[in-house]
Amino acid sequence: MKNLIIAGNWKSNMTKSEARDWLEKFSLESIPEHMEVILFVPYTLLDIISGYIKVNGLSIKLGSQNVSRFPKGAHTGEIYANQIKEFAEYVLIGHSERRATFGETDEIVNKKIEAAKNVGLKTIVCVSNLDQLKSIYTDTIVAYEPIEAIGTGNPELPKDVDDMSLRIKEIKNSKLIYGGSINSDNIKNYAELENVNGLLIGMDSLNADSFINNIKNAS
Ligand code: PGA
Repeated sequence: MKNLIIAGNWKSNMTKSEARDWLEKFSLESIPEHMEVILFVPYTLLDIISGYIKVNGLSIKLGSQNVSRFPKGAHTGEIYANQIKEFAEYVLIGHSERRATFGETDEIVNKKIEAAKNVGLKTIVCVSNLDQLKSIYTDTIVAYEPIEAIGTGNPELPKDVDDMSLRIKEIKNSKLIYGGSINSDNIKNYAELENVNGLLIGMDSLNADSFINNIKNAS
């Protein structure tokens, strides 16, 4: 069975008590050996979730959804890489929502990758096209997320995802995960694609039962 990354992206959702309820449900399930489950959560939840994972021995890796491109210092409102490293192993960088709404350019994305790598955080960098991919200058896991597929209920066709994943791998030689309207009904069609190493799930990760069903159906 091939190894798979199954990542949840909670985006700007979940309070502390909602997160605790989610974890309580999730902790009743066991994760198959060949899967690496990563949860990208809001900064405000990193502390309590990392604590919960340790105390309860959950096999979930934790990630933040963003990182400052600056080191520590006078950057009001920013969270720098070492602050994330205290709680998490991963950081998601360059999501299309950050590029579109918060003006993140390829240059900023690269600075964030560098800031994360400098402290030993693992990175998953989102791209929605080959130009964005080509601008990344270091090794990283790549998340291919076509904009039209995000949050629309219309994932890109599996064949097209596989073709694009192959092209991305030819350019970058990296692990490739796909994101965009993945749910427990369609995940299998994507998990089994030759060039896809995992899935990034937004909406369908917010409910613990749905996320568990994604994990079950992907294997
Ligand atoms: P979606 O989001 O699964 O809700 O389409 C995916 C993402 O934006 O990472």
